[in-house]
Amino acid sequence: MTADGIDGLGRFESPGKGRGLLVNRAYRVGELLFVCPAFSHVLSVSERGYTCEHCFTRKEGLSKCGKCKKAFYCNVECQRGDWAMHKLECSAMCSFGESWCPSETVRLVARVISRMKVQKEPSASEKLLLLKDLEANLDKLDNEKREMNEADIAELHHFYSKHLDFPDHQSLLTLFAQVHCNGFTVEDEELSHVGSALFPDVALMNHSCCPNVIVTYRGTLAEVRAVKDISPGEEIFTSYIDLLYPTEDRLERLRDSYYFTCDCKECITKSKDNVKLKLRKVDGDEPRSEEVREMLRYARNAIEDFRRAKQEKNILFLHPILYLYTVSKFCASLLTPPAELLELCELSMDKMGSMFEDTNVYMLHMMYQAMGVCMYMEDYDGAVNYGEKVIKPFRQLYPAYSLNVASMYLKLGRLYIALDRTSAGSTALKKALAIMEVVHGKDHIYVKELQKEISTHQK
Ligand SMILES: C[S@@+](CC[C@H](N)C(=O)[O-])C[C@H]1O[C@@H](n2cnc3c(N)ncnc32)[C@H](O)[C@@H]1O
Ligand SMILES: [Zn+2]
Ligand SMILES: [Zn+2]
Ligand SMILES: [Zn+2]
Repeated sequence: MTADGIDGLGRFESPGKGRGLLVNRAYRVGELLFVCPAFSHVLSVSERGYTCEHCFTRKEGLSKCGKCKKAFYCNVECQRGDWAMHKLECSAMCSFGESWCPSETVRLVARVISRMKVQKEPSASEKLLLLKDLEANLDKLDNEKREMNEADIAELHHFYSKHLDFPDHQSLLTLFAQVHCNGFTVEDEELSHVGSALFPDVALMNHSCCPNVIVTYRGTLAEVRAVKDISPGEEIFTSYIDLLYPTEDRLERLRDSYYFTCDCKECITKSKDNVKLKLRKVDGDEPRSEEVREMLRYARNAIEDFRRAKQEKNILFLHPILYLYTVSKFCASLLTPPAELLELCELSMDKMGSMFEDTNVYMLHMMYQAMGVCMYMEDYDGAVNYGEKVIKPFRQLYPAYSLNVASMYLKLGRLYIALDRTSAGSTALKKALAIMEVVHGKDHIYVKELQKEISTHQK
C-alpha cells in the first residue's frame, strides 16, 4: 500500500461489509473516480490471435510468438513486456500439446504467484489494498468449495510445476479463495469475455444492486466512473452481478459466490420483482402460487441446461465479420449444434410463455440467448426479432446507465446495419453511444470507434 493513496477516495470500515471505499468530495455522473492497472491479467484462450496478450489491444495483424505460435502481440515491445508471464506457458503449451487446458483462474493464479515473487514494493494497483490482504472468506467455504479449490491447486501443479515454485498449500488455498471473490472478468463493449485480471484497489469496493459506479476497461486498466451523483462521505458501490434477475436469484448468487446477504434498497424493497416476474392472466386470473413456483423451478433449470449445452466443450470457431464479434464468442465453445440450441430456447419459451409475459426476465434470458444463436447462424432477421423484444424491458429493468443495455443497443444497431436498415441502425447505435460516453468516458477507444461507425452510416 502506498502512503499517498488515491485523491478523492478513502478506505474505511463499512459496517457489516468489511473494508470499503468512500469519496471525500462530490462526484457527478460520468466523472472518473480512479484508474487501476492490473496486478496480473490473462487473456482468454478464445481471444488468441485477435487481441494482444500483453496490452489487451484488439486489432488485426498481430504477430505470433515464434515458439508456441499461440500467443499474439502488437509488436516486439509487447512481446518482451509479456515474456515474464508468457514463459510460464510457452514451452508447457508445446510439450502438453492438445492436453494443455488449465482453467483461466489457474492461469491467472500462476501469474500472480510469479509476479508476487519479484514484486517487493506495493504496485500501482495497491494504493489502498495489498493483494495479499484481499478478502478470502476462508471461514465461509463449504466442502464443495474447498474441493473445488483443491482441484484448482492440483491443476496448477499439473500444468505449471516446471516453471514455478509454489508457496505452501495453505497459502495456495487462500490465494484461490481470494481470486474467486476478488477477480474481475474483462469484457469488451459487447460484453464479450476478453480475459481475467486482479485489480486490488478496485476490489475494495463493496456490492450494491443499485450501484453508484461502474467498472470498465481500457486495455488492461480498470476505470471506475460514477453512474449517479455521489456526495462527500458516501460509500461507493459497484455491482458484482447481472442486475436483470429478481431479488431471490441475486441474493442466491451473491451468497454462493461472495458469501454475504445484500441489504441494498432494491433487495429490501424488491420494488422491481413484480415486473421482473410478470405473469400472464388466464381468463382474468393470475396462476396459483404453487404453479408459479413450479414454473420458476423449471425456468431456472432450463437456464442451467442451456448454459451447459452451450459450453460443454471447447471447439474454436473462426471469427466472422468483426463487428458481429459476439457471434463467434458466443459459440467459441459450442458442442451442441446451434439449431438444437435454438430449439432448447424455443421449447423453454413455449412452456414458460403459458404463464410468463414476454417481459418476464426468464423469457428475456432465453430470448437473449436465442438472439446469440441466430446471429451465429447468420439469421440476422431472427436475431433482430429477439433483440427488439428484449431492448425495451432491458431499459426498464436495468439501471439508467447499464453496460447490458448499451451492449444490447450496439448489437441491435449493428444487426440493423447488416440488414441495410441504416436509419434504425444509426438510432440504436446513438442510444448505445449516449450510455457509453458516460460509462466508458468520451475519450475511450470504443466511443471513438462508435462515433466513426455512426458517421459512416449517416453519409
Ligand atoms: C471484493 S471484496 C470487497 C471488499 C471487502 N469488503 C474487503 O474488506 O476486502 C468482496 C467481499 O466483500 C464483502 N461484501 C461486499 N459487498 C458487500 C455487501 N453489500 N454487504 C456485505 N458484505 C459485502 C463480502 O465479504 C464479499 O465477499
Ligand atoms: Zn500490445
Ligand atoms: Zn510462446
Ligand atoms: Zn442488493
